[in-house]
Amino acid sequence: MDKEMNPANGDADPNGRSRAGSDQNDRKSDGAVKIFDTTLRDGEQSPGASLTSAEKLELARQLAILGVDIIEAGFPAASPDDLEGVRRIAATVGTEQGPVIAGLARTSHDDIDRAWEAVREAAKPRIHCFIATSALHMERKLGLTPAEVLSRTVETVGYAASLCRDVEFSAEDASRSDPAFLAEVLEAAIASGATTVNIPDTVGYALPQEYGALIANLIAQTPGAGDVIWSVHCHDDLGLATANTLAGLQAGARQAEVTINGLGERAGNASLEEVVMALYTRRGAQRLSTAVNTRHLARSSRMVSHYTGMVVPPNKAIVGANAFAHEAGIHQHGMLQDRRTYEIMTPQTVGAEGSRLVLGKHSGKHAVRQRLEQLGIDVPEASVGELFRAFKALADRKKTVTDADLRALVTDEVQIEDALYELVDLQVSCGRPGLSTATVRLSCPGGHERVAASVADGPVNAAFRAIDSLLETPNTLIEYAVHGVTAGRDALGEVTVRLAPEDSVDEGNTTSFGGYGADTDVIAASAKAYLSALNQLIAANGLQAVASAAVMTEDYRSVNSPS
Ligand code: KIV
Ligand code: ZN
Repeated sequence: MDKEMNPANGDADPNGRSRAGSDQNDRKSDGAVKIFDTTLRDGEQSPGASLTSAEKLELARQLAILGVDIIEAGFPAASPDDLEGVRRIAATVGTEQGPVIAGLARTSHDDIDRAWEAVREAAKPRIHCFIATSALHMERKLGLTPAEVLSRTVETVGYAASLCRDVEFSAEDASRSDPAFLAEVLEAAIASGATTVNIPDTVGYALPQEYGALIANLIAQTPGAGDVIWSVHCHDDLGLATANTLAGLQAGARQAEVTINGLGERAGNASLEEVVMALYTRRGAQRLSTAVNTRHLARSSRMVSHYTGMVVPPNKAIVGANAFAHEAGIHQHGMLQDRRTYEIMTPQTVGAEGSRLVLGKHSGKHAVRQRLEQLGIDVPEASVGELFRAFKALADRKKTVTDADLRALVTDEVQIEDALYELVDLQVSCGRPGLSTATVRLSCPGGHERVAASVADGPVNAAFRAIDSLLETPNTLIEYAVHGVTAGRDALGEVTVRLAPEDSVDEGNTTSFGGYGADTDVIAASAKAYLSALNQLIAANGLQAVASAAVMTEDYRSVNSPS
């Protein structure tokens, strides 16, 4: 087996650092890749993601703990607020041992002055200036000739270098630029004092082999190439940002510009966690390393998601909720024998909680048995088959079978009955505390419908009370949980509830009933989950719950409750 395929290698370093003991200032060290994090600049340009300056400062602290080499803290010329935000990061996070702090600037003296003002307090400041070099951008966006772009580059990179000894130059839309002109501009930038030159695939257009060849050719042919660090900056419009970044690094670039969770303009930038873990996990094949402490990846991802409100898709590589979750029976069985069958890195390496065997309709007996063992539940061998059949029946009804469900199955509490009552309609209005109202319309056994309304201190509570007034099945809610199952504004909310017959909990009786509901409206999902649990309680009690017509007015009842 290829040595690097053995995840034990991936975990050999107890600090989870992907370049233990490396000297971050050793720019020429062959395989050392600098991680330039632009979450706070390009990442914040992600539609819908904006950060307060306090949040940016917290994230910058976390990025320093993560071990990135350079933090692009913002675009100081964008607003006085941005300038002040970058200045605070430079002054507090940009310590001697900390990362380089960079500020972005267009090729104008004014922008460069502001960028310098913002980063100068850092122990290691950097001015990052950029101008577009593709014919399309020069002509249609900037209204400049190639000669004007060239002279601006010389003039402004020279000016930036007179202020700051660390200057990065980016040729925006480089991958769609004429390669000969691009090389000419880069040569001029290097001669004018740039210490890092960056080759952005600004619109995520390049293919990995093209991008790799572009970087290799530029390094081979640009005079002065050996005096600077070559940098890659890839966007994800075709889902190729990580692949292109790796291709550029394999071609000789030694700085990768990335963002946490792949945040960024349009489809985003190359994701830091993907690039770092691809280098780490496959280091045998690439001989490249970073100084990132991989064990802080999961936490960094959560912080960025929390502060920006940009939800991480469950199937996102490295940091998604499902990155270390296994549902299929065959996979779960493999994981139980040897986790390397289905995991190429351990969750601990990226700071995630642990592998999860999710119990659902694809799960097999092995996984159910293992979970029961973990829960300390002893099931006689003879009962395992029957229990597993009940598990499958439940899993067909619910997306995920929880530990509470499993316990209930063992004590024979889950009844798979056809729904007695179903939610037909729900209307809520939320107001001040105590003034939320909910009106529910339920279809009842026998085919008729009932309507009820209730007032409570929150819309979910009001919906539950309205349902209670119709079903008259006293119960105690012992578990209520809401999960987002998809991302975006139209995300599907998943609610699980567990309830017990009233008073049974106090009396030490642990019989309980689980319900599940999913809807784009979490209050509707809650009402569905509550009803599904109540249906089971009613079926178990053999109760013929008589739906009372508890409604607001006589007229309302007569119009809405044909019986
Ligand atoms: O994508 C891009 O071209 C950029 C530059 C400003 C570096 O973000
Ligand atoms: Zn960009």
